Amino acid sequence: MGLDIGTSRIKFVEARAGRTGPVITNVGMGMTPRDTIANGVIVDPDTLGAAVRQLLAEYGVRTRSVVSSVASQSSLVVRPIEVPRMTRSELAETMQWEVDRHIPFAASEVVMSFEPLVPPEELPEDSQNMEVLLAVAQEDMVDAHVQTLFNAGLDPSALDVEPLSASRALIDIIGEQGAYDKTYALLNIGANTTDLSIFRPGGLLSFTRPIPIAGDGITNAIAEALGYEFHEAERAKIEEGRVYVEGAPALAASAGGEPERPPETAPAVPPEETEEGAERVFDLGAETGPQQPPIEPPPTTLPAVHAPTAGSPERQVYDAMLPMLVELVTEVRRSLEYYANRFPDSSADKVLLYGGTTRLGSFPEFLANEVGMEVEIGDPFQHVAVDEASVPADMYRDNACFMPIVVGLAIRDMIA
Ligand SMILES: Nc1ncnc2c1ncn2[C@@H]1O[C@H](COP(=O)(O)OP(=O)(O)OP(=O)(O)O)[C@@H](O)[C@H]1O
Ligand SMILES: [Mg+2]
Repeated sequence: MGLDIGTSRIKFVEARAGRTGPVITNVGMGMTPRDTIANGVIVDPDTLGAAVRQLLAEYGVRTRSVVSSVASQSSLVVRPIEVPRMTRSELAETMQWEVDRHIPFAASEVVMSFEPLVPPEELPEDSQNMEVLLAVAQEDMVDAHVQTLFNAGLDPSALDVEPLSASRALIDIIGEQGAYDKTYALLNIGANTTDLSIFRPGGLLSFTRPIPIAGDGITNAIAEALGYEFHEAERAKIEEGRVYVEGAPALAASAGGEPERPPETAPAVPPEETEEGAERVFDLGAETGPQQPPIEPPPTTLPAVHAPTAGSPERQVYDAMLPMLVELVTEVRRSLEYYANRFPDSSADKVLLYGGTTRLGSFPEFLANEVGMEVEIGDPFQHVAVDEASVPADMYRDNACFMPIVVGLAIRDMIA
């Protein structure tokens, strides 16, 4: 079973290894009790564990073995870094020392894992450096997660990280059928955070960028503007929330003219730009540098012809959401532009969208307009078999955008 405990919703998928690949046998989703997760970190493992247990019981899940994932941007760093070429055993030693250069928390209280993106023995002979994917998590965050799984009566076999899980279900599973020739930007817009992860040809993670704007921020903006409680604003967003795509010309006006700056999470420094010496190789100055410049205030007026009647509930919700949405897509566009400038040979071919917030009416079109790139909803059930006798069609078809991570978790040990 794969289990994704999100700030807003708990998602799970059960899978079995079929003769021709994984088969999905159960899919489910339920609400996360409020205030059990703060900033992506589980703060109430008892309440949350009980909620997970209850959800799984409702769906008749008997599997105990679970692969889950961690996400918190404040206590987890997942990043490709560049190091001088070395053997695996040298690398193991080096990484112990390198960790604290890359994390914003104390190195004594972390759990870490790393893997060369390209195995050292397969590197071209003349390459001086190698890229290593580093994952470092705060131990307390991991402990609270594992405790929650135990409280739910589960038997955790692995903890994965979100973008890698999602890429398994969206890219790796069709890697040999052409997906490994492309560069994909995976964009997960959940409740607490948005995560942009770019996978270059071969399905290699080469850039990550957390953006602290997502569904809860949009709901809070509605609550504030209309004087609603959170749950009322959430209902208004889901029932009335819609983006008016032809409003996008107003957006385009804010495009361009903004200073180019490296995003918070810098990608690995490409070899040709590194100088001799480890200091330079490990220089991630972008992260310790000054705070990013403020984003230009978003446009708040739209061509009246495209917007719903002024004063209508739809229009009020739209007006309340717009500044957040503009800020979000502006950040996404900037990061994609940054990546395209940095790696002109492998700029993203396509954006694959997932996470509950991508359900907002016309959001994919709105984003496509703004980033000028092909945008597609990442559907994890497109390339994996589903046992239709046991999974209701509406469960996996209508909720597909919530599920790339859990599908990737469930099939973790079933695909090459
Ligand atoms: N129809 C809809 N329109 C707009 N937003 C929606 C819709 N349905 C769900 N959402 C939003 O999707 C979000 C939940 O999505 P998801 O389950 O991907 O997030 P999560 O995993 O719980 O959060 P995170 O990953 O940030 O911890 C909530 O903010 C919810 O309001
Ligand atoms: Mg999520």
